Amino acid sequence: MVETVTYSSCGVNDAVRRRRPDLPDFDGPTFFGLFTVWTSVSGRPRKISELNRQVKLPCFHRMRVPLLDLREQYRALAAPIRAQIDEVFSGQRFILGPKGEALEQAICAYCAAPYAIGVSSGTDALLAILMTLGIGRGDAVITSAYSFFATAACIARVGATPLFVDIDPSTYNLSPSALEHFLGHECEQKAESVIVRKTGAIVRAIVPVHLFGLCCDMDSVHRISEQYQLEMIEDAAQAIGAEYRFNSQVKQAGTMGECGFFSFIHPKISEQPETLA
Ligand SMILES: Cc1ncc(COP(=O)(O)O)c(C=O)c1O
Repeated sequence: MVETVTYSSCGVNDAVRRRRPDLPDFDGPTFFGLFTVWTSVSGRPRKISELNRQVKLPCFHRMRVPLLDLREQYRALAAPIRAQIDEVFSGQRFILGPKGEALEQAICAYCAAPYAIGVSSGTDALLAILMTLGIGRGDAVITSAYSFFATAACIARVGATPLFVDIDPSTYNLSPSALEHFLGHECEQKAESVIVRKTGAIVRAIVPVHLFGLCCDMDSVHRISEQYQLEMIEDAAQAIGAEYRFNSQVKQAGTMGECGFFSFIHPKISEQPETLA
């Protein structure tokens, strides 16, 4: 008899353990770091790799599990998506046009934001914001040590220096206490400006990043940005629709700083697209 059971990376999972107390605890390599599959043939538990060497059974063929697979989701949404694409193609308005405007209005309504401007990507949005604020050579921008590389890359792209501040281990987002420590110990106030002691760069802005749909501690970050008179630009690329009780008011990610931006790269907006329809 061939039987396949799933082991969690830290050992036999509890459900399996209850059913099969005879199975040994997991001590082998993990499959994609998440789980591994053990098999028992005639009651003797063995690793798949061990069995693969001995018997060639079709059920032991390696299975490729894609990191991201939205095909099923697309199948359900294909018709309305194709209808929208057809409308764009029929109208031949590929740049700006009524669909772009409709999206900007929908974002304003959804986020309760006064303005929204559609650009080609989250990266370009941050670039446009930094350029609009006149941030460039000789300036420095504080951001989280843990983000997608575009956050720091855009700061560097306008000629400014990204300054990384550590994260809060409970949220993985910018730590307000590390931010306060950095500004208090590594920088000094000269006239109206905050200067980085080591380099002389002028700190112009803070870019908190709301990772994985979880907002930073925005009350604290906002308080610190006000105290040092720094612009606050929210990297909400991963957080469209995330809410935060800000100054005792519920606010959407991206609407608490001077400006914020979202990314529409497909994995980020794959959930609940009807809310923006
Ligand atoms: C935190 C963060 N910032 C910025 C970006 C850049 O957005 P885009 O891929 O749309 O250029 C991403 C995208 O992955 C992101 O995750």
